[in-house]
Amino acid sequence: MASAAGPSAQTARAALAAALLTGAATAVVLGVYAGVHAPAGRPLFTLGFSGMLQMKTWLATGAVVLVVVQLATALWMWGRLPGAGAPPGWVGPVHRYSGAVAFVLTVPAGLHCLWALGLGAGSPRVLTHSAVGCVFYGAYAAKMLGLRLPGLPGWGLPVLGGTVLASLALVWATSALWFFTRSGLPLL
Ligand code: HEM
Repeated sequence: MASAAGPSAQTARAALAAALLTGAATAVVLGVYAGVHAPAGRPLFTLGFSGMLQMKTWLATGAVVLVVVQLATALWMWGRLPGAGAPPGWVGPVHRYSGAVAFVLTVPAGLHCLWALGLGAGSPRVLTHSAVGCVFYGAYAAKMLGLRLPGLPGWGLPVLGGTVLASLALVWATSALWFFTRSGLPLL
């Protein structure tokens, strides 16, 4: 019994350490890049929007809407959605694909933040946004790795997934929400 429990506890620790170290390294590398390079100050593309801020704001908002779908489907799969029975077969794929699309939507926004604007430290809001933006990509990397590593502790995925969701919500609240409250800039 002890020898059966030993390796599996060790595997769980190794899986958790690998996921957390990968996530931390991802966040630190992005933060260091954002801090040391000279911000380009211009967009690479605007995808038909009137400017970089408008593009980033709408892409981030789309990602946050999909994150709500992610949260609902995750709760359903874990049997924690009040009033819902056993999850039908489509819940898993909806969770997976809404997550993938949400991530893809963040990439043009995050890329422009990192490359064009860098690590903003002009105000607590902008500093929080920059730091949590890096945490978001770190948490996402850790979660993707955690999904594929055998032996991750049972609480590992909900915690990593929750960090991804919470960090994206905070990134959105400190950027797109602020943008929507500003007057004088075109919304699209
Ligand atoms: C999930 C990833 C991210 C998303 C969806 C996102 C989204 C946005 C949006 C919509 C804006 C425009 C609103 C505004 O100007 O405040 C913005 C601005 C900005 N972002 Fe990000 N961002 C992300 C990650 C990052 C990262 C990793 C950094 C830097 C390390 C960063 C730095 C900035 C800065 C400096 C601004 C300008 C803020 C200002 O001066 O008002 N962002 N971001």
